[in-house]
Amino acid sequence: MDKVMLRCLVSRCLLTNPVAGQTRKMSGGSLAGSQSSLAGKVAIVTASTDGIGLAAAQALGQRGAHVVVSSRRQSNVDKAVALLQSEKIQVTGTTCNVGNSEDRARLVDMTVEQCGGVDIFVSNAAVNPFFGNIMDSTEAVWDKILDVNVKSAFLMTQLVVPHMEKSGGGSVVFVSSVAGYQPMQALGPYSVSKTALLGLTRALAPELAHSHIRVNCVAPGVIKTPFSQALWQDEDVVDEFKKQLCIKRFGKPEEIGGVIAFLCSKDASYITGETITVTGGMSCRL
Ligand SMILES: NC(=O)c1ccc[n+]([C@@H]2O[C@H](COP(=O)([O-])OP(=O)(O)OC[C@H]3O[C@@H](n4cnc5c(N)ncnc54)[C@H](OP(=O)(O)O)[C@@H]3O)[C@@H](O)[C@H]2O)c1
Repeated sequence: MDKVMLRCLVSRCLLTNPVAGQTRKMSGGSLAGSQSSLAGKVAIVTASTDGIGLAAAQALGQRGAHVVVSSRRQSNVDKAVALLQSEKIQVTGTTCNVGNSEDRARLVDMTVEQCGGVDIFVSNAAVNPFFGNIMDSTEAVWDKILDVNVKSAFLMTQLVVPHMEKSGGGSVVFVSSVAGYQPMQALGPYSVSKTALLGLTRALAPELAHSHIRVNCVAPGVIKTPFSQALWQDEDVVDEFKKQLCIKRFGKPEEIGGVIAFLCSKDASYITGETITVTGGMSCRL
């Protein structure tokens, strides 16, 4: 191998070789000291008052992180905070519509003021205002889907990164979808937005590795939440999906939450720029 090739290989390795961020302050918890412990970390999870976001907040909180939960409706935030508190999870809650720039800034500022920093960011929010043939989708549909599902994921990352850098590193996880690999019928624009998150993960990882920030993504299959109700309430659709699954059931939110927490932990300290599909064995590739 000549010297130029060797240099390229080494610089590429260095670009993608992250070191886990430092712990803010160690607190108790049965996992403290273990590789999967998140004690002392502060985690923002968007759209975290129900479904996968709430399960991610629970999984991070169970591992010792202080979680900041949010969504558009105050009543949902209050319910989620009460639930997490009843589970002895350290939690702060606020409203945040991720499509609104003032809300995004307020969420990050409040987290830094009240919790002392941000170590973990899980970008989970998404909308799907359109079902039908992609050729019938309007500019307004595309604006909404790209604003909430893609742009806000990036813009939130831009807001949290300086705080992660201050504390020596961190972890970002985007929530994509199996639809990002294989567009789902009638969900064209949504599927494309989820493919964009796979690209965003790959684009950010080498740039942020210098700051010891790892960037990863999870792509869930069909998970039983209010968002996917149309799929799991229709028996014909369920039967059709089951044919594609090795594990013959839809997933549970906690089965995604655990993978997100893993990606944020030291167990995953050498993983960046990756997307983990969590689909019950549904085959998917780009
Ligand atoms: N469920 C699945 O089968 C599945 C599969 C693949 C990927 N996903 C992805 O997983 C993520 C979560 O989906 P889910 O199934 O867990 O949904 P869900 O159970 O319906 O929960 C949606 C959450 O998002 C909040 N929310 C909605 N719009 C928001 C916005 N603009 N800003 C902030 N919060 C918002 C909701 O609360 P408020 O109403 O109070 O805002 C709620 O807490 C999404 O990115 C989705 O694309 C889901």
